[in-house]
Amino acid sequence: MSKGAKPFSRIAGLGIGIPDTVLTNADLERMVDTNDEWITTRTGIKERRISKPGERTSDYCIKAAREALEEAQIQADELDAIVIGTISGDMRFPATAIFVQEAIGAKNAAAFDVSATCSGFIYSMYMGDTMIAAKRAKNVLVIGTEMLTPLVNWDDRSTCVLFGDGAGAVVLTEATDDRGILSVVIGSNGAHTDLLYTVGAGMLSRSGNGRYLKNDFINMNGNEVFRHAVRMLERTAKESVAKAGLEASDIDWLIPHQANMRIIQATAERMNMPMEQVFLNIHKYGNTSSASVPLAMYEARREGKLKDGQLMLSVVFGGGFTWGGMVARF
Ligand code: ACO
Repeated sequence: MSKGAKPFSRIAGLGIGIPDTVLTNADLERMVDTNDEWITTRTGIKERRISKPGERTSDYCIKAAREALEEAQIQADELDAIVIGTISGDMRFPATAIFVQEAIGAKNAAAFDVSATCSGFIYSMYMGDTMIAAKRAKNVLVIGTEMLTPLVNWDDRSTCVLFGDGAGAVVLTEATDDRGILSVVIGSNGAHTDLLYTVGAGMLSRSGNGRYLKNDFINMNGNEVFRHAVRMLERTAKESVAKAGLEASDIDWLIPHQANMRIIQATAERMNMPMEQVFLNIHKYGNTSSASVPLAMYEARREGKLKDGQLMLSVVFGGGFTWGGMVARF
């Protein structure tokens, strides 16, 4: 028996769906007054994937879901629930999860979205793990997805360089041994809603009639968000590790929210983890909000870095503020 808490659920499959279109820092240099050197040193981002008009958030989710189900060897009709963390779904309603439910044929699944900004995926994992722990579900499809680039003000150089689109999916199923989710923690603080927000409605209505209001864009006070993020990520990382019954030195991989390289470095430092133990793909995707952790987890597994039996710690922080952390053994 391995060290740490006993898991109720485990990750049986992973999948991703990302747009084909790549927007590089060189492309952005032609759009706003910025340069590759500034973006790279301040954020770690080199390029990001952006959606084309007509594409929908659910398109990426459906692709990611099919791949995750395939790896899990679980049929869509065996799913009890589909939980999607997103703040940029297809429409205000129905939930993006409903479009996924229909497309993959998950005819026995409940389907709903969770709105928790960049923490949406970890909040959704919390839901899925809790349903399985309570024996209310056996198999849950959890997706983190975002199509934030239609919400970006392409004249605002301080935000337009940051975001990207995509989806990452996880099939959660009942744990049978010591592999699985050892802890998930979530939290919020509504005292800072003015630092990062968008007022506008859903994606399709916006792309349909083309007129953007200032409040429909992502509004962010980057410096302030940065300051809060570093403090809360450290606290959440420590809480997640303690709840899993482990020490930070037990963790093999830190797979953090890929929002900003400097925030990631500060978190690793505060956890005494060398950067060699931190999985990074921010250079390829930018900040994909809810999609960021499952995209990184997927690549860490597929690149053979996050191996069977190893422990990973994820921590996320987003507008609201919201935050979350998770420890899992693969
Ligand atoms: N290119 C060139 N110069 C720029 C750019 C740009 N793209 N953007 C801003 N600048 C300039 C500013 O105008 C400023 O110039 P000045 O000194 O002449 O006034 C200078 O660079 C420094 O600007 P800062 O805003 O202080 O830069 P900072 O080092 O804080 O980096 C950043 C900005 C990258 C946005 C950072 O604050 C950050 O990453 N914040 C956290 C973002 C985050 O994690 N969000 C949470 C999740 S998102 C969600 O929940 C949806």
